[in-house]
Amino acid sequence: MTQRVRKAIIPAGGLGTRFLPATKAQPKEMLPLIDKPAIQYIVEEAVRSGIDSIVIVSGRHKRAIEDHFDKSAELEDELEERGNAEMLAVVREISQLADIYYVRQKEPLGLGHAVLCARRFIGDEPFAVLLGDDILMSEPPCLKQMIEVYEERQSSVIAVMEVPWDQTHKYGIVDIGGSLEVVATVKDLVEKPAPGEAPSNSAVVGRYVLEPAIFELLERAVPGKAGEIQLTDSLRQLNERNALTALRFEGRRYDVGDKLGFVQATIDLALEREDLGEDIKRYLLEKLPLLR
Ligand code: G1P
Repeated sequence: MTQRVRKAIIPAGGLGTRFLPATKAQPKEMLPLIDKPAIQYIVEEAVRSGIDSIVIVSGRHKRAIEDHFDKSAELEDELEERGNAEMLAVVREISQLADIYYVRQKEPLGLGHAVLCARRFIGDEPFAVLLGDDILMSEPPCLKQMIEVYEERQSSVIAVMEVPWDQTHKYGIVDIGGSLEVVATVKDLVEKPAPGEAPSNSAVVGRYVLEPAIFELLERAVPGKAGEIQLTDSLRQLNERNALTALRFEGRRYDVGDKLGFVQATIDLALEREDLGEDIKRYLLEKLPLLR
């Protein structure tokens, strides 16, 4: 019988060096896109995909993340007293989103190691991994589509999208032995191939639905690229036992771990907002001719 995918891991232990000094005393996952911390978008995608328990694997500075998803009694009292029902509902909803647990990754040994840190929480069932730097916009959510594919094919699923060839060295790259269909069987995969050595331009975006068998492989993993325990290396071994499925992601992806991606996400999200969209559009149109 198929086990339902109900748990997810969100690794959040990175140092956020690309966003210093903003990340000197707060986790990069708490940087807001407009008025919502980046990690909340990720949690919301997980919840909309049917996940009910989430473990956040964090490093130092986890307090702000924990406080954010906790009930905030004083703030709620204050908003109630002021009669700000709208904001009260927003704040209350955050603490009721999902059951969130925390595990600490004591040393920054890589993504594969971060996933391994959540092993006891996951146990012997399939689970999702969502990377905080990748904000994916699609309807239905990317993870929801992946879970459906997992249930159908009974093999681990990774989300992929085509990237420019000169960017392949920044990603895990999959070889599917042909053009990228919506659902494809993975032949092989490689973490951040050197320029000119990528087997394709189909890149892994930060969403995975994995069988628990990955844990034994991670347990035995040796450091790979950048001296870190790479999830991709263990996925490669898993692929030899039970071929992975690649699901082509169709939607918008922002790399909010990168300054340009962060600003692009902010602009696009602002343009879509009812309370801001028109004003931002007017501002951009006024500004554009001056930039030519
Ligand atoms: C990680 C993974 C890589 C994947 C990427 C997606 O790399 O190791 O395989 O393509 O996320 O964002 P990172 O960007 O954390 O270095």
